[in-house]
Formats: sequence, C-alpha cells, structure tokens
Amino acid sequence: MTNTMSAPSANHVVPEQMIAIEITSPGGPDVLRPVHRAVPRPAAGEVLIRVEAAGVNRPDLLQRLGKYPPPPGASDIPGLEVAGTIVETAADPSRWRLGDRVCALVAGGGYAEYCLAPAVQCLPIPGGMSVISAAAVPETFFTVWTNLFRRGGLQPGERVLIHGGSSGIGTTAIQLAHASEAIVFATAGSDPKCDACRRLGADVAINYRTQDFVDVVRRETSGQGVDVVLDIIGGDYFSRNIDCLQVSGRLVQIGLQGGNLAQIDLGRVMRRRLTVTGSTLRIRTVEEKGELARDLEANVWPLLASGRVGPVLDRTFLLNQAAEAHRRLESSEHVGKIVLTIDRA
Ligand SMILES: NC(=O)c1ccc[n+]([C@@H]2O[C@H](COP(=O)([O-])OP(=O)(O)OC[C@H]3O[C@@H](n4cnc5c(N)ncnc54)[C@H](OP(=O)(O)O)[C@@H]3O)[C@@H](O)[C@H]2O)c1
Repeated sequence: MTNTMSAPSANHVVPEQMIAIEITSPGGPDVLRPVHRAVPRPAAGEVLIRVEAAGVNRPDLLQRLGKYPPPPGASDIPGLEVAGTIVETAADPSRWRLGDRVCALVAGGGYAEYCLAPAVQCLPIPGGMSVISAAAVPETFFTVWTNLFRRGGLQPGERVLIHGGSSGIGTTAIQLAHASEAIVFATAGSDPKCDACRRLGADVAINYRTQDFVDVVRRETSGQGVDVVLDIIGGDYFSRNIDCLQVSGRLVQIGLQGGNLAQIDLGRVMRRRLTVTGSTLRIRTVEEKGELARDLEANVWPLLASGRVGPVLDRTFLLNQAAEAHRRLESSEHVGKIVLTIDRA
C-alpha cells in the first residue's frame, strides 16, 4: 500500500491502457469486473485525471442494475466522482495545469485508473483534505447544495427534515443545514444511525422503523411543521412529507427509493401554499454543472477547507473490489460514504 496514494511525477507518461470496472451485464454486484480499457484522451474543455480515489453512490447501483443508463456521450464505466491529479489537459490553461490536485464531478467513468472530466467540473482538493475524502465530496455536495439551498431555499433558523440521514446524501445534508443554522430533523433506520445523525448536527433524529416521523415532527414543532423536506424515498412518503410541511413549505424530491408514484390531496398543497420540486444532477449540461461548481467553490469550499463540514467516510475498498463496495452500499449497513482506492504499488 506504500505507493497507493502517491501523486504522479511532473513527467508522468500516460499509458495506453488502464484498468477500469465494467458492468458486464445488468445484474448483481458480481457483474462488476476489472477489464483493460484504452485510456481516454481529453477533447476540448476536458482534462484527464489520474484517479487515486473514486466515490461510490447509490445511483451507481441503479446503473449496475440497468435502471440508470449513462446520459448520451458519457462513459459506460460507472462512477460519478473522482479525486487525483491532472495529467493531460485540453482546457483553458488559466485554471488547471498538469500536476494540479483536484476532485471532479463526472457523468461516468470514475471506477478507473484514469478518468476524463470537463475542466469546469473540477475543483481544488479543499484545504488539507485527503484525496480519499476529496473523492467523496462532489456527488453529494453538488446534489445537496443545489437542492437544499438553491431549489429548497433553506434559510438560517428554518426547520428542515432530511430523510435517510445516515446516507451519503443525508450526512452531507445534515452538516450543511446545521452549518447554515437551520434546525435539523433527520430520519434513519436504527438507533445507532440516529446517534450518528445527532453527532453530525441533527437536532432531532427519528428512527423511522419505530417512530412515525410525521407525529414526531408535529410534536417537536408544536404542530407547525418544517419549512423544507429533502426526500430520497418518494412513494408513500410523498403524502406524509406534505403533512410535515408548514405554510409556504418546500418539498425537494431527489430520490425515489420507495417508488415514483404517489397519491396526494392537492387541496393541502393549495391551502398551505406549498412548493413541490426536485432535480437530478447527472443529466444537467456541463455549463450548468460548471456554474454549480463555481457556486460551491464560493459558498461550500470554505466550509470544507476549514473542516466545519466534510464527507463522512464509512469504508474504502480497492478498485478491483468494486463488487464488495456495492454489496456494502446495498446492505445499507454503512454510515456516510464508500470510496474505491487505486493501488498502483
Ligand atoms: N437527484 C440527484 O441528483 C441525486 C444525486 C445523488 C443521489 N441521489 C439519490 O439520493 C439517495 C441517497 O443516495 P446515497 O448515494 O447517499 O445512498 P446511500 O448512502 O446508499 O443511502 C440510502 C439510504 O436510504 C436510507 N433509507 C432507506 N429506506 C428509508 C426510509 N424508508 N426512510 C428513510 N431512509 C431510508 C438508508 O438508510 P437506513 O438504513 O436508515 O434505512 C440508506 O442510508 C438515493 O436515492 C440516490 O438515488 C439523487
């Protein structure tokens, strides 16, 4: 492992071939197999990153199952976020140079020794953060920032309910909401996970297996409800989320783990003047993601650099253990993020 996290030297020669993890056919974790692939070469506006670590996210599981195909033009290799060193560039040299250490949001291709990224979707590794932690930042911080604060408009002093508080998304959302001085409610599926949510800044943590989150929110807010709900479940949570919102509340839908169909009494939306919104990150254009990157650099990077917020690392696996990493994420035993690392020793 001695050489695992070493940055390449200035005269690093990019090889022709690399190891990447391929989805051989839709299915369980074992369809993830290490293969040799040609190292991709940057087109205009892109950089090539020598990957040292890559984050694993629930959307990767959906892609592996054949339910979340990569958008047109994106790599078929899974992986939505990486961290490492820029070793080739076809982008404006005023921002990135060879040897720069970055993390990047990508639309695919992260589970590999080398990965292309649009230059505008790269950000410097914050402060003294390790490259492994940096690889766990882009997907959840981009998603949470744009949805909780930009779409949901969460303000200091407001109340927010975050479902799946121990997930990669949830651990990020709790910390950012807490840092913004919101009052944080979070749901999770066990008491230890609820404890983890509290340690990250949740004011009220609700074990959704033993408590009704609507009852708890109503009780804890003297019947008023919360201002914003960030939901990854959907399905029958939709109506219950509406029940949690106070006048002018906002529901932000970013996942559909419980199903994408819901029934709702629209009268409740009208009477309480609610806003229902949501978004997915991966299909946005490079320009939109670039704007978002600048927004994060200005507003979130200082929090990451100071250590006030940061990714919660559950476990790391070597790249060729991607199937094991998926099994762990699928088990939902994790708290926070799972990261693949590259052993070049
Ligand atoms: N819209 C976007 O752009 C975007 C981007 C990234 C991710 N996402 C979505 O965000 C979600 C989380 O992604 P991730 O990578 O953070 O995944 P993850 O770490 O695997 O988290 C999934 C979590 O869901 C929780 N969960 C399951 N059923 C629940 C329920 N009924 N109530 C509350 N929590 C429940 C599980 O916790 P328990 O063990 O406590 O049940 C688990 O922690 C996924 O649905 C993903 O597709 C959306």
